[in-house]
Amino acid sequence: MEATNEYFKIRINSVHPSSPIPFDIFISLNQKMVHYLRAGDSITAEKLYSFKEKAQGQFYIPQDQRQIYKDYIHDRLTSSDLSAMEKAVLLRESSISLVEELYENPDVAKALADSRPVVKNFIDLMDEEPSAMSHLISLSSHDFYTYNHSLDVCIYALGLGQAVGFGSADLKELGEGALFHDIGKRNVNVDIICKAGPLDDVEWAQMQKHPQFGLQILMEQDVTEGVMASCYEHHESWSGGGYPQDLEAEEIHPMARVVALTDTYDALTTKRTYNTPMTPKDAVQFMESKLFGKYDPDMIKAMSTVLFKMQKDLSS
Ligand SMILES: [Fe+2]
Ligand SMILES: [Fe+2]
Repeated sequence: MEATNEYFKIRINSVHPSSPIPFDIFISLNQKMVHYLRAGDSITAEKLYSFKEKAQGQFYIPQDQRQIYKDYIHDRLTSSDLSAMEKAVLLRESSISLVEELYENPDVAKALADSRPVVKNFIDLMDEEPSAMSHLISLSSHDFYTYNHSLDVCIYALGLGQAVGFGSADLKELGEGALFHDIGKRNVNVDIICKAGPLDDVEWAQMQKHPQFGLQILMEQDVTEGVMASCYEHHESWSGGGYPQDLEAEEIHPMARVVALTDTYDALTTKRTYNTPMTPKDAVQFMESKLFGKYDPDMIKAMSTVLFKMQKDLSS
């Protein structure tokens, strides 16, 4: 579709109403691109709202204005007018379409390169605003889409990685590993990914190949060992019995251990068609009891601490 080549998708909530916007915005109506806002014009909150309904979230910017959009977001993220919560919303909203590209853009190399700065932006915001992590976590999506999931696992992994003492270079590597951990799902049939209900044996076998598919994709890209391990080993289990290699304990890369834990945590706290989401506390308790032994015990402890601290941050 033309939208993929000439335009890139944005979330309209990343645009601030009532002040001039330095890029053109298009909406997709009946498969056609309609010029919705001229660069330099501003948009009222009411207009924003009514178009949001009409365009069903499909807002686009011409590719050649990508840098202008990036600078606009960057300026707003570093401005002193926005609260930590507003910055967290802005960063999430401006990142999610890049993560969506990881699964939808036929050019995986480009999608990977474009989405890498997402991790740096999250780390910068965490450094700058100590309460940002709590806000980011509170914004986690409760609807399950692979791209929401990837972004949320990335955010949780950064929070947990920080809590277990990862330095800044490792944190960046971990964030990328978490963001790309399910990239192999690009090669799994979409009907299996979206199936509302448990998978049958054949479908399950196909789904379980996504770590290998992911490794194959990442091996052709310029990524580090930790990023590849986060993808290939995130379904391994601390006590053994995971897939695809049946590793155990310290054989599993520390970054993959963080991703394994935050991956399950996100799945448990997210609504899918066939389950009711657990509260954060229940999810951690479930992982400590029913899933006992599957995760690095020190990391499980650290996860409780992160979530406890987060609740304190949000209530203060
Ligand atoms: Fe996975
Ligand atoms: Fe996952």
